[in-house]
Amino acid sequence: MAQDVHAIIGASGQLGTEMALSLKSAGKSVVLLDLRSPSFEGIRDLPFETVDVCDAAGLSACLGDHGVTHVYHLAAALSARGEQDPQWAWNLNMKGLLNILDLAAVSDSLARVFWPSSIAVFGPGSGRLAEQTGHRLPGTVYGISKNAGEQWCAWYRRNRGVDVRSVRYPGLIGTLAPPGGGTTDYAVEVFEHIGSDEPYTCFLDENERLPMMHMDDAVRAALELMSAPRVTLKCEEAYNIQALSFSPRELFEEIERQVPGFRYRCVPDFRQDIASGWPDALDDAVARREWGWRPQVDLTGLVTSMLVARKGNIMPVPAT
Ligand SMILES: NC(=O)c1ccc[n+]([C@@H]2O[C@H](COP(=O)([O-])OP(=O)(O)OC[C@H]3O[C@@H](n4cnc5c(N)ncnc54)[C@H](O)[C@@H]3O)[C@@H](O)[C@H]2O)c1
Repeated sequence: MAQDVHAIIGASGQLGTEMALSLKSAGKSVVLLDLRSPSFEGIRDLPFETVDVCDAAGLSACLGDHGVTHVYHLAAALSARGEQDPQWAWNLNMKGLLNILDLAAVSDSLARVFWPSSIAVFGPGSGRLAEQTGHRLPGTVYGISKNAGEQWCAWYRRNRGVDVRSVRYPGLIGTLAPPGGGTTDYAVEVFEHIGSDEPYTCFLDENERLPMMHMDDAVRAALELMSAPRVTLKCEEAYNIQALSFSPRELFEEIERQVPGFRYRCVPDFRQDIASGWPDALDDAVARREWGWRPQVDLTGLVTSMLVARKGNIMPVPAT
């Protein structure tokens, strides 16, 4: 039997970089697709193709040439950047996803797709603990696109037999690549700032509690969901997954505990308005029941691992 070939679309981004390293370390056959080449040295030896996910013909040719069996479609406009350019965000987030789903519907080789949704599908009225099937009235272009994307995935599952799997990620915190313009980016950027003489300036209110997750848990969630038997997955939507829930103040207090003298201040900007519509935490009972989801990294472990990575000099260069 031919070997599985995993394609990561948006492979040079924050999540794609970590996903690529994880699949490479597991000995999988991997091909990376993005508009820009990877910045992280540890994945530069993997095959890389410059492909626009909105170009259906180019995408189809690339996936066919490599005999791709599994797609991780991670190319997207994120929440904060999306509010600044709504048409671009909607077009990228919808067209990219529909191109992949169309290809999966007719391809003989492409067997399975992973596409992440987000906590941004929730909005005011979802409650502080968002239920799996809770009220959703997203307040951002990004959230609207993720909500619509979930419904498109359900449609392709039901009507075209596509095996597409999805989780609602919270804010993701990792070390290998800079964040791409989301509302939770402060929780990565702060670690780049440690050691500076100036206090770190956070763009959210210090008490704005949000769901968060270390990249190790985020990547493991995707890989575990992708290897779960299809028959056990009953949920029609992207799965709520929960790991951590903290405010800037709680994160900074933990950093200060581990780095005495660390100082910060909070000067909320437009991203606070986005964050205030999101829940504090997600109820992930369905993911736990259907495919055994369990987070592993707690707040102390997250801060320790980010500080160790920083000392090892693998923190990203900040995005411009
Ligand atoms: N990072 C988070 O905190 C977070 C939280 C929830 C959900 N997600 C979801 O996870 C996925 C990955 O997010 P991320 O943080 O890695 O994003 P990112 O912005 O860091 O990376 C996205 C990558 O997609 C590439 N890209 C953009 N347009 C493209 C196109 N037309 N064709 C090909 N590639 C293109 C970019 O060059 C970039 O490398 C997204 O779907 C995002 O919505 C992320």
